Amino acid sequence: MKDSFGREIKYLRLSVTELCNLRCRYCMPEDGICKKSHADMLTAEETIAAVRAAASLGITKVRITGGEPLVKRNVVSLCRSVANVPGITEVCVTTNATLLGSLAIPLREAGVSHVNLSMDTLDPDKYRYITRRGELKDALDGLDAALNAGFDKLKLNAVLIGGFNDDEIPAIAELSRKYPMDVRFIELMPMHDGGEFGPDAYIPCAKVLEYLKDAEPVGQDGVAGMYRLSGAKGRIGLISPVSAHFCGACDRLRLTADGKLKPCLHSPVEYPIKGLNQEQMAAEMKRAILAKPPCHDELSATSRSHAGRTMNRIGG
Ligand code: 5AD
Ligand code: SF4
Repeated sequence: MKDSFGREIKYLRLSVTELCNLRCRYCMPEDGICKKSHADMLTAEETIAAVRAAASLGITKVRITGGEPLVKRNVVSLCRSVANVPGITEVCVTTNATLLGSLAIPLREAGVSHVNLSMDTLDPDKYRYITRRGELKDALDGLDAALNAGFDKLKLNAVLIGGFNDDEIPAIAELSRKYPMDVRFIELMPMHDGGEFGPDAYIPCAKVLEYLKDAEPVGQDGVAGMYRLSGAKGRIGLISPVSAHFCGACDRLRLTADGKLKPCLHSPVEYPIKGLNQEQMAAEMKRAILAKPPCHDELSATSRSHAGRTMNRIGG
């Protein structure tokens, strides 16, 4: 269905857990989060009812996010159930890839067509630093498994962090030359509790192009401006939530693991659907879609998001 500003809402971002096996410094506090009671979270049945409700309103694409969705024990069967909902034509997963080594093929077989994986550095020590505990090798094994699993589309996301990975922009971009995979650089969003990075860590996407002299523009893909390195199999994507808002093209609704519909990533407004039946969920979804603002409040390198939650509790 269309929102109040004529935008067709086709895309549900479904966070299936707040938990994660990593603690990326820009996303989560070091000690993780206080684990919520099971009773506060959507059950698998409620999650599927919500996807059916979304499909009844014309949503065709579902992205499974977290926290880290692959830490959830029943994630493969959940993906299969989502893929089987009539009207859902695209099931995507966003993951840190550390558990993808063993899960890539089961997810592919369950009907997942698209995978986005996050990798902010190619240096094992820096990876351990930024994730506070991760091993780069696990993520690289996950990437390898995903490349071999035959997904329709594979993307690698790197958050740009000044003084941390700007020197690696060329090396990360090179992955798009080697593999049939888009490599996307994302501007660091200042979330409400800040993480560890202040305004000086923000780098605009435009900076990426200074490093990539042979990048040719090849149009737009959703929220990303696309480029290609000469002879590359994949493309480079630049996602600029801070320097250039893409609210005008926003086609998404978010549902958190604790059952709150979020009309906008950067707004604290939420519509609870825990405990409702499918029909009631669809009614709340309509309200949430009609409550989508034309654009989020000013988000800049220095003014923080009003999301009211850390990123792991939204799902990106
Ligand atoms: N700014 C930009 N991207 C972020 N992500 C998590 N927190 C932030 C932030 N503050 C990214 C992760 C992952 C995706 C789910 O969101 O790196 O790629
Ligand atoms: Fe986990 Fe992703 Fe947050 Fe890193 S960015 S802590 S991998 S949810």
